[in-house]
Amino acid sequence: GKYRVVSTKPMPGTRWINLLIQNDCRLEICTEKKTILSIQDIIALIGDKCDGVIGQLTEDWGEELFSALSRAGGKAFSNMAVGYNNVDVDAANKYGVAVGNTPGVLTETTAELAASLSLAAARRIVEADEFMRAGLYDGWLPHLFVGNLLKGQTVGVIGAGRIGSAYARMMVEGFKMNLIYYDLYQATRLEKFVTGMLPLTYGAFLKASGETPVTWKRASTMDEVLQEADIISLHPILDKTTYHLVNKERLSKMKKEAILINCSRGPVIDETALVEHLKHNPMFRVGLDVFEDEPFMKPGLAEQKNAIVVPHIASASKWTREGMATLAALNVLGKIKGYPVWFDGNRVEPFLNENARPPA
Ligand code: GLV
Ligand code: GLV
Repeated sequence: GKYRVVSTKPMPGTRWINLLIQNDCRLEICTEKKTILSIQDIIALIGDKCDGVIGQLTEDWGEELFSALSRAGGKAFSNMAVGYNNVDVDAANKYGVAVGNTPGVLTETTAELAASLSLAAARRIVEADEFMRAGLYDGWLPHLFVGNLLKGQTVGVIGAGRIGSAYARMMVEGFKMNLIYYDLYQATRLEKFVTGMLPLTYGAFLKASGETPVTWKRASTMDEVLQEADIISLHPILDKTTYHLVNKERLSKMKKEAILINCSRGPVIDETALVEHLKHNPMFRVGLDVFEDEPFMKPGLAEQKNAIVVPHIASASKWTREGMATLAALNVLGKIKGYPVWFDGNRVEPFLNENARPPA
């Protein structure tokens, strides 16, 4: 192959590999056993000549790596992730490296994990599972693991982009929850969906049966969501404006029995404040896929029965992970060989820092 492309990790599927090797690329996949590569490891992988790199969200793509990539003649970097808080796009610009991410293919998978955590927290699935395995179940009792009924409660979504909107739709449609969302931008498609769906699907039927149809609204402040919602799911991007978005003060505004879900990025929550809040509010529950100092948890979190914790697996379905790998390869290929790149009838979006994109 004419072009040398490096992937810092083996990725699922073979489609991404075939795409690259059938298009003039020589692909090198790093099979180093340690989970997180250091900057020095990656500089060594880049070497003297490298046209493009596919990297991971655990890697710190800043000044050092982009200057190394640019010295090696590289013009393309794709994160195998939709989030790119690990990428310093200004540094990439400075060294003339295009940066791509992998939106779209993980929307539903990620929303489904947020929904899974919502249900697991509401119905105390993990605690109940531990109880069974510990041999503590000695007979049915009226008060055993009583949780929350979702139907008729309010789901709050903070950050109603692709993933937040998909989650909202699942919770409204699937569990007949009322919706309140907060976003700087109006979630037009989500609003259309809930508006069109409600009367048609069950609004009229529920009225006839004496029940009230679900309602929805866009909140004008985030605090409105915190105060009104029974389950709150966080779906913003992580940047300076969303760092510790949920802090001690905001936690105190939430209902005592609320459920908080985070499948975005750990630092969106002040995790130390969250541990304190969980300790003092045993009815408050949380479902976390991401953590402030991954792979670590803040002291005390693991001991909290009212916390469900999973290791950053929101996008982990086979279809999605193969799709992310394929998109990452297409990103790099598009830059090396020229746009437009078409994939399964869809135009692959140009790089983040080459074209302004609509808000996520
Ligand atoms: C995963 O966290 C992603 O951003 O894709
Ligand atoms: C519970 O198992 C019931 O039958 O109500």
